[in-house]
Amino acid sequence: MKEDIREIIVSSEDLEDKISSLGKKISKDYKGKDLMLIGVLKGSIMFMSDLAKNIDIPLTMDFMAVSSYGDSTESSGVVRINKDLDSSIEGKDVLIVEDIVDTGLTLNYLVDNLKSRGANSIKICSLLDKPERRRVNVNIDYIGFQVPDEFVVGYGIDYAQKYRNLPYIAILKEEAYS
Ligand code: IMP
Ligand code: MG
Repeated sequence: MKEDIREIIVSSEDLEDKISSLGKKISKDYKGKDLMLIGVLKGSIMFMSDLAKNIDIPLTMDFMAVSSYGDSTESSGVVRINKDLDSSIEGKDVLIVEDIVDTGLTLNYLVDNLKSRGANSIKICSLLDKPERRRVNVNIDYIGFQVPDEFVVGYGIDYAQKYRNLPYIAILKEEAYS
């Protein structure tokens, strides 16, 4: 797996430090609120798990699975819900936890969809932000790192379902794309 990597762009240490500070900020901002983390499967799993461990106020968690990409590296612009939430978000202070915001189409759709469900508030926390590729405006409340316009993998983020288990964020070599 390591032989497929061209460059590490966010190290494990940098991920740890950033997630610790995001957790502190979220703990402060949501004190006294009814925080519910909604992880967007599957890319956000590592981030969601480490982020939650760095939040020291009560919270609940749920997950949604959406697809907009298939196994290609380009957004189709079509978003489909493959798994909906198990629980109601009525009255909750929802924080959507996402791996990366690229075109913005996925989150734009998701926020719109969740808005009709009676939450007290809906905010977004994304580990990575690729602003150069944005096609629709998305207001990201908590951002880990901005990344260049390159396809990235690792720490939950895949290429063709692989590389999610890398403990850092990396760019693949050309040869890795088959
Ligand atoms: P968007 O709808 O274009 O903002 O893309 C959202 C989803 O596409 C992300 O949650 C990822 O799952 C996937 N995605 C976007 N950029 C990348 C990337 O560089 N590597 C892997 N997946 C990506
Ligand atoms: Mg995603």
